[in-house]
Amino acid sequence: MSDFRADGAAALDWAARYLERVGDLPVLAQVEPGELSARLPASPPQRGEPFANVLRDLDALIVPALTHWQHPRFFAYFAVTASEPGILAELLTATLNSVALHWRASPAATELELRAVDWARQLLGLPDGWHGHIEDTASTSTLAALIAAREATGRNVVVCSEHAHSSVEKGARMLGMELRKVASDEELRMRVDGLDLSDAAALVATVGTTSFASVDPVRELAERAQAAGAWLHVDAAYAGSSWVCEEQRWSQDGVELADSLVVNAHKWLLTPMDCSLLWTSRPEEFRRSFSLVPEYLRTPEDAFALSEYGPALGRRFRALKLWAVLRCYGREGLQQVLREHIRLADLFAGWVAADPRWELVAPQRFSLVVFRRNGTNEENEAILERVNRSGEMFISHTRLDGRYVLRLAIGNARTSEADIRRAWEILREEAGR
Ligand SMILES: Cc1ncc(COP(=O)(O)O)c(C=O)c1O
Repeated sequence: MSDFRADGAAALDWAARYLERVGDLPVLAQVEPGELSARLPASPPQRGEPFANVLRDLDALIVPALTHWQHPRFFAYFAVTASEPGILAELLTATLNSVALHWRASPAATELELRAVDWARQLLGLPDGWHGHIEDTASTSTLAALIAAREATGRNVVVCSEHAHSSVEKGARMLGMELRKVASDEELRMRVDGLDLSDAAALVATVGTTSFASVDPVRELAERAQAAGAWLHVDAAYAGSSWVCEEQRWSQDGVELADSLVVNAHKWLLTPMDCSLLWTSRPEEFRRSFSLVPEYLRTPEDAFALSEYGPALGRRFRALKLWAVLRCYGREGLQQVLREHIRLADLFAGWVAADPRWELVAPQRFSLVVFRRNGTNEENEAILERVNRSGEMFISHTRLDGRYVLRLAIGNARTSEADIRRAWEILREEAGR
């Protein structure tokens, strides 16, 4: 067997070196589909190998086939950061390997989760008294919310905007619920006029849509939902983290009326994947939906079992990394990172707006810029492909009214103004070719 201390030191050294040099690697993996598979042994080893072999092949095989999400010029989808305190806490979580089935199985995992999620609630300025727990992803959080909504209302229809994330549609489909998509207005917000919620189990409002970071009119939607007896679930998976900055709380208007809310700490709160925060003002409805305690899990304690608030029984000790991140950054540290991202996005958007060959396609929100070069869809698609192939930066796209548009999302703590300037330079160079 290998030496845990020596291997651990080597792994940590590898991690530190990786973070130092990730900015020099090509952001987008420069491999073809199947290339790595062809280089991996088809069968497992008969005899155990030293851990050093794993580290060696991490460099030789795995790193070349990675798209580097920790790269400062990763601007695709929603860019993320696994911060150092979060990375170290993940090591400790695996070391402890708690399986928090219920309180007794890991009192610390249960109680720290309640406390850390409540700290996050306070940092984001959310209502007192909300119950929060951690799910793996926003897809699961929204699925859980839809299940609670169906249980609470006895109805089977989900209503969301045309720009809601596909996880809403997927959740409805998995549950056999009917999905109704509502058109959006010129600012890409869900339209409220003509909204019929009379048979709706759940209305899903989005704060920070995936394609455009647009913000649905949550207060008006909440009032409509309340009047119709529908459950309001708010998907703020990306933009919810911005509420750590008081000046961003304009987008929180009405969220206090929600029945449930999801914010992904692994998107823009510096916590490594995965850590999705799910709050509810109606915890009893969640418990009614998910509580099922077989004999072997019965204990004399009258204590919280967070497995009674969501689909999974065995739960990872995710709270440890959230706790580590919140402690090591503090409110001010988080604000500093997010404010800088928003400043950089505004700066970039300003350059786009000032150049007559380019245009902003959606109102500027948070740290996402949606834009395109004047020209055809094919020309814009070709720019994206060339830019990404350069290995210097990575952006993604979406479509608006049939138009192919580019997205530059800022969310990595290592991204600097120099990175944004370089990105703009590369885009203009590639567009000029
Ligand atoms: C607004 C929104 N909701 C939900 C999701 C899904 O998140 P997850 O990957 O955690 O399921 C995303 C992903 O980007 C998103 O942007």
